[in-house]
Amino acid sequence: MQKRAMQGNSLLKGRLRASAWGRFVFFFGVIVLSFVFGACSKFQPGIGYNKNYQPDQPIPFDHSVHAGQYQIKCQYCHNQVERSKHSNIPALSTCMNCHIQVKTDSPFIAKIREAYEKNTSIEWVRVHMLPDHVQFNHSAHVQKGVSCNTCHGAVDTMKTVYQFTDLSMGWCINCHRQPENKAPLNCTTCHQ
Ligand code: HEC
Ligand code: HEC
Ligand code: HEC
Ligand code: HEC
Ligand code: HEC
Repeated sequence: MQKRAMQGNSLLKGRLRASAWGRFVFFFGVIVLSFVFGACSKFQPGIGYNKNYQPDQPIPFDHSVHAGQYQIKCQYCHNQVERSKHSNIPALSTCMNCHIQVKTDSPFIAKIREAYEKNTSIEWVRVHMLPDHVQFNHSAHVQKGVSCNTCHGAVDTMKTVYQFTDLSMGWCINCHRQPENKAPLNCTTCHQ
């Protein structure tokens, strides 16, 4: 009787030790992986958690002047955002609505006019980029009254646009989970 109890006891201790070791390996692994991924996201802007990513643009287009100081509505330029999955970057013809007259002495405006007249485009550098396996839909959100600022920050104060949130799955889910939002949580809503 006593012998068996002892055996059970040492077996239990063995398990405890194994699980402590397992936990150590697990946490250590998590730390190493988070360093690796942290380093990747720092040095390779592209897909992933590029919070605060703020690339230089070919022309220093300033939202704080256009949307802030002159209060041009976001939808005046991003005019597909209520109808489409994607929020378009405006065509140069939109810029020329004003810049045919405004600031025509600026070298940047000269560049825009030249591209417009030659029917070429300005290669804006993309700021936000979800991985391919995720689907996002602007019109669904904007039509439900989620404001641009909630997801993009105060763009009307930004001289150069940057990524305001981390665009992680947790960030999406956290908002979808709020009861008042009645937003879908099943995987296939966002992944196919
Ligand atoms: C006069 C036109 C104009 C107005 C008004 C405007 N934008 Fe933009 N927006 C642009 C252009 C051009 C770009 C591309 C260059 C850049 O990133 O700065 C852009 C880029 C962006 C981007 C980054 C897109 C990417 O590459 O991921 C966001 C986000 C954005 N705008 C949001 C807004 C919001 C929110 C408002 C209103 C507060 C607004 N914009 C008003 C012209 C405009
Ligand atoms: C619920 C969050 C959310 C709201 C609200 C939102 N956006 Fe976005 N926006 C995103 C995400 C996420 C991306 C990146 C999409 C991708 O990579 O496919 C993005 C990308 C963009 C882009 C780059 C082009 C594109 O479609 O990928 C522009 C421009 C933009 N948003 C403008 C706006 C404007 C203007 C508004 C308000 C009218 C707005 N967004 C509202 C989350 C949001
Ligand atoms: C509704 C009118 C309007 C539209 C549309 C517009 N802008 Fe402007 N833009 C202005 C005004 C006003 C200024 C400020 C002029 C000043 O500083 O006196 C300005 C200034 C600028 C400047 C700074 C020029 C300099 O050298 O100081 C750039 C660059 C510029 N806009 C680019 C663009 C681009 C690119 C687009 C299209 C995506 C665009 N603008 C669309 C009205 C507009
Ligand atoms: C600030 C709150 C908020 C955030 C952040 C948010 N969503 Fe949503 N989302 C909503 C709401 C509200 C709806 C419900 C729209 C409806 O009822 O049709 C929705 C609906 C959707 C839908 C369903 C669209 C359709 O066609 O019915 C998709 C897909 C989606 N969200 C993807 C995303 C992804 C991906 C992200 C993160 C990159 C995200 N959302 C971040 C609030 C949010
Ligand atoms: C509201 C939108 C949304 C829903 C619902 C959602 N996801 Fe995601 N998921 C995302 C976004 C955005 C990313 C990319 C950012 C990231 O990796 O956090 C992602 C990334 C992932 C990844 C890749 C992680 C990586 O490290 O590359 C997996 C796996 C995943 N999701 C599985 C799921 C599963 C399983 C479900 C259902 C239980 C689900 N997702 C529901 C938005 C969503």
